[in-house]
Amino acid sequence: MALSLNDIRSLFEQYGKIAYSGEPVTQLEHALQSGALAEQAGAGEELVAAAFLHDLGHLLNLQGETPTERGIDDLHQYFALPFLRPVLSDAVLEPIRLHVDAKRCLCAIDETYFGQLSADSVRSLELQGGIFSRQEADAFLRKPYAEDALRLRRWDDLAKEEHRATPDLDHYMNVVERVMNRSLTA
Ligand SMILES: [Fe+2]
Ligand SMILES: [Fe+2]
Repeated sequence: MALSLNDIRSLFEQYGKIAYSGEPVTQLEHALQSGALAEQAGAGEELVAAAFLHDLGHLLNLQGETPTERGIDDLHQYFALPFLRPVLSDAVLEPIRLHVDAKRCLCAIDETYFGQLSADSVRSLELQGGIFSRQEADAFLRKPYAEDALRLRRWDDLAKEEHRATPDLDHYMNVVERVMNRSLTA
């Protein structure tokens, strides 16, 4: 089963107002801010779409308030992939799939990174397997799209600001549409 463009829009319209667990933004605001930061950084549309869609798994697998406080790793980085794989390319899917491991990697390779994480991100880090060893970080960095996943992760961490102005849902749905069309004609 694949998610259509309309399915994706409906997910954001239906569940976008849900608070992003432990952060002062909603799920939709977090997605829009992630997309906006990617655009501001000059990312290509595939990576902008990945930034916008990276937490779609949260909307497909609702776990209620702050699941990390109940010791739950919702594995949201994998949840949307089977539904997106028929319609999107690896340039979109891989950064999404790797965005949690990117945090584990950045903690290992960037001394200042851990200190910048929000409380909820620190709590989930342990549930997600903790900080990578140097060896694990090296293995991660050799994966295709690892660099994109690291970029996405840094936008993700910044996309938690209350009332930041961004382009709207339509803007990013148009990006996703163009990216889908490219993937389907490739
Ligand atoms: Fe995430
Ligand atoms: Fe996120």
